[in-house]
Amino acid sequence: MQKETKGKSGISFIIRPAQREDLPSLVKVYRSAYQDLPQYAYTNVYEVRDYINWLYRGDPHGLLVAEKDGEIIGFVSVHGDWWDKRFQRRTAEVHELGVLKEYQGQGVGSALFHAALDYARALGCDFASLWVGEENWLARNWYRRLGFQEVGRGWGEWIRMVKKLSAD
Ligand SMILES: CC(C)(COP(=O)(O)OP(=O)(O)OC[C@H]1O[C@@H](n2cnc3c(N)ncnc32)[C@H](O)[C@@H]1OP(=O)(O)O)[C@@H](O)C(=O)NCCC(=O)NCCS
Repeated sequence: MQKETKGKSGISFIIRPAQREDLPSLVKVYRSAYQDLPQYAYTNVYEVRDYINWLYRGDPHGLLVAEKDGEIIGFVSVHGDWWDKRFQRRTAEVHELGVLKEYQGQGVGSALFHAALDYARALGCDFASLWVGEENWLARNWYRRLGFQEVGRGWGEWIRMVKKLSAD
């Protein structure tokens, strides 16, 4: 499955499921995406590699990449069968979303995020959930605009956000 997409700035890219061979590129994307937010990211490259592998293993079909001219410029990871201990219910857990610094602000993250929610809906998930760093205002405000509600916090500086999924 590949989806040809145009970002709001007119940039064209495809969204497709990740392959195992893509994982090293995702390490690069992650490190670039978080360069201004190191407080919310793994900074050690070995930890990043383990984390990306963990994302893939947890739900290979929920790891989607944005590719432009053969280069991976962003990715999202959702685990479609996650147990939310706090609410005692199944949710789609969006664990990660990142876009190469130089491609941010052009609609790539938005396209990936919506593809992840479509995947969750297709699996029959009623909820999508995520954690966001409390001072990651861009993401936090954006998720609010998308209908996510803040329902609590954890580990001091992480905000829990949840959205009820519908057919929209
Ligand atoms: C969050 C992130 C994935 C968004 O990806 P992106 O490709 O830059 O986002 P988009 O261009 O699709 O824009 C998404 C929304 O953010 C807004 N946005 C993007 N850049 C912005 C900026 N510089 N200032 C304010 N808002 C901005 C857009 O307006 C859009 O909101 P809208 O649809 O309501 O208009 C990207 O900024 C990133 O990799 N950040 C670092 C990692 C991170 O924070 N991940 C999320 C962890 S929970």
